[in-house]
Amino acid sequence: MKIAICSDHAGVEYKTKLISYLLGKGYEVLNFGTDSTESMDYTDVAHPMAAAIEAGEADLGIALCGTGNGMAMTLNHHRGIRAGLAWGVAIGRLVKAHNNANVLVLPARFISYQMAVSIVRTWLATEYEGGRHQRRIDKIPV
Ligand code: RB5
Repeated sequence: MKIAICSDHAGVEYKTKLISYLLGKGYEVLNFGTDSTESMDYTDVAHPMAAAIEAGEADLGIALCGTGNGMAMTLNHHRGIRAGLAWGVAIGRLVKAHNNANVLVLPARFISYQMAVSIVRTWLATEYEGGRHQRRIDKIPV
């Protein structure tokens, strides 16, 4: 399982720790940056990560910015991406089970690192339920 990951400056600290966590669990990780705390635009890492997932270079993705909203808005412009924001474990489960999010978005300035790890662990362990949820997902593209 290959996981792509990206953040802006607001999410870089959690991203760095999450990369170690994921590698320790045996996942392959593709890091799209940023790797600095210098202010930058989340779009500049979100678009390349989304394109890589769409091209099949990674199975899933994780994106972090301050609120998560900039990342989610950018990523969801890509047809092959369903980016879902989660700030608690229950939402982390549902965003996979019901929305089949292939990118998990975390609001780094509003959750603890421990919560971020708990959400990631849950999202990775959860199976998409399909059924009525697929009918709804099929109606998303415009
Ligand atoms: C950066 O200050 C902040 O705007 C960004 O991390 C994110 O919250 C945007 O949605």
